[in-house]
Amino acid sequence: MHPTLAINEDHSVHPIVTKTGLRAELLARRAAMPSETRSGAARPIRDALLSVPEVEMAGTIAAYVSIGDEPDTRSLLFALWKRGAYVLVPRLLPDGDLDWASYEGPDSLVPGARGCLESSEPPRGPGAVASADVVLVPAVAVDRTGVRLGRGGGSYDRALARVGPAILTAALLYDGELVDSVPAEPHDQRVRAVVTPARGLVRLG
Ligand SMILES: Nc1ncnc2c1ncn2[C@@H]1O[C@H](COP(=O)(O)OP(=O)(O)O)[C@@H](O)[C@H]1O
Ligand SMILES: [Mg+2]
Repeated sequence: MHPTLAINEDHSVHPIVTKTGLRAELLARRAAMPSETRSGAARPIRDALLSVPEVEMAGTIAAYVSIGDEPDTRSLLFALWKRGAYVLVPRLLPDGDLDWASYEGPDSLVPGARGCLESSEPPRGPGAVASADVVLVPAVAVDRTGVRLGRGGGSYDRALARVGPAILTAALLYDGELVDSVPAEPHDQRVRAVVTPARGLVRLG
């Protein structure tokens, strides 16, 4: 990390970690990750999630189609759908909010906005995420209190604000992306757990 240094009144020096700086550092780390590490993350994340009680019981699961360097969620989506869950995936709206439509297998995914794959099924509206029993979200990092750093669009802050307090919300991360501290702004919504390849589901807060 290359934090800015701030000089305190007592002349001691401390680092200021900004969201932008932390995001850039973690995205650079993902970009430099060996391809085996990247491709090896999907399966343990999927298998850990498939044995989480809330996921096993869930009638509706809101999830997402991974893009770029994110841990791949395609086999997870497929497994949840095959199991009979109603799986919702997001569609990015022009204002940065998320609409939701059902995933009905790999053939239901079509190219959408900003290089994302989205469902070709009818959109259910931004409020549909509130009907999910489990909500799985992407993140660049999460801290030990659940503060989540995304890509900077704030879309999942808007979606997570609609999710009830008893619902399991989990961000999917590579190992090392559960960090000590992420700067939080008032609009930032926490997640209640993360899933990493080495540790599986880690409940937070
Ligand atoms: N509930 C909201 N309503 C409208 N805009 C929001 C909301 N939450 C976040 N945003 C917008 O998203 C921007 C980016 O949020 P940020 O938390 O930095 O991104 P991310 O969560 O993707 O890391 C904020 O500056 C704000 O303008
Ligand atoms: Mg945020």
